[in-house]
Amino acid sequence: MSDHRTTHSQSDASAQRKSHHLEFANMAQTSGSTINDYFDYEPMLSGFPEENFSFTPIKVGPKNLKAPIWISSMTGGTSAAGPINKNLAKVAGEFGLGLGLGSCRPLLHSDEFFDDFYLRPIIGDGVLFANFGVAQLEQELQKDSAQKLLEVCKRLEVDGLFIHINPLQEWYQNEGDRWFRSPVEIMKEFAELIASKAPSLILGIKEVGQGMGPASLKAILELPISVIEFAAYGGTNFSLLESVRDEDTNKSNELIKPKELCYVGHTALEMVRLVNHFLNDKSVKTGDRLFIVSGGVRSFLQGFFLTESLRAPACYGMAKPFLEASQGSYSDLAQFVQRELDSLKMAQTFLRLKPLKGE
Ligand SMILES: Cc1cc2nc3c(=O)[nH]c(=O)nc-3n(C[C@H](O)[C@H](O)[C@H](O)COP(=O)(O)O)c2cc1C
Repeated sequence: MSDHRTTHSQSDASAQRKSHHLEFANMAQTSGSTINDYFDYEPMLSGFPEENFSFTPIKVGPKNLKAPIWISSMTGGTSAAGPINKNLAKVAGEFGLGLGLGSCRPLLHSDEFFDDFYLRPIIGDGVLFANFGVAQLEQELQKDSAQKLLEVCKRLEVDGLFIHINPLQEWYQNEGDRWFRSPVEIMKEFAELIASKAPSLILGIKEVGQGMGPASLKAILELPISVIEFAAYGGTNFSLLESVRDEDTNKSNELIKPKELCYVGHTALEMVRLVNHFLNDKSVKTGDRLFIVSGGVRSFLQGFFLTESLRAPACYGMAKPFLEASQGSYSDLAQFVQRELDSLKMAQTFLRLKPLKGE
């Protein structure tokens, strides 16, 4: 009896599907111009991913990311930041993604927002990085008190620390900071301090939406910096954000800076090519580093393309998409990540990268 019912409903579903096929065929027409030409599609070589699939782990110091996705540094120090950070930490812990905190500058002077940043109990054993600007770093080095940054990292129980390098953002920001030595010199001095005072802390560097060019990238590769996040041009751009903010809040319009400098920079793809170029150049050591390809990455397929194109250990990072996905409930955020991982796994299973044009 039950067998009969199953057969009946299966044939109902099948009849409905066939009728949908007739109904929707018109809407399912492609043309050669819409093809994604970056991949070879290879359906013959693999079966479907198992339901409980996993990814090749990605090393970050002594730990591993369980999936090749990084939640890029965002917010902290406002009342809205706490719940967002906690949801992001929970999802990073559940799925084994990396998480960068937003600038931890407020913690240098007060503990008012400590709870918004203290995510270790939520992310568990997951990979977590703190974040300071190069401006604060130079100021503290000058006062011989850069140890304060290391103490914040210790209290937050983070695995690593990003220093963000953002001269254009600071310039566009009315109350922005300045630094007077080159970030190369500043980072060199700080790396020495870390080596002597906090050798297990992983040092990382990032921009905030402009990326950086060959000479800067080459200089970074010559420093003992283990994680390099592109934060490239093509997505959220903090110079533009500050410029827009200035227009919105600054009443004496003649002081508003021209916008042209917001539009310089390097895309993630350009930076992938630059790193690949340095990998071929034996005089530059890319070593055992992790590259986080970020800045305008808006889909798993773009992230897959960029990380596959980079000939070094890499994951992809996103800020804005995670900010959007974390506005609703935790289950919405978890669904967003699950969809991203399912889709990425399908891409890894059935797509092979075509040779990068021009390489
Ligand atoms: C709301 C918001 C806050 C951010 N705050 C920081 C920050 O405090 N420190 C930092 O290094 N980058 C910060 N960023 C920059 C991101 O880490 C990232 O580099 C940039 O947004 C580009 O990524 P996207 O195009 O995926 O948004 C922030 C980004 C957003 C959207």
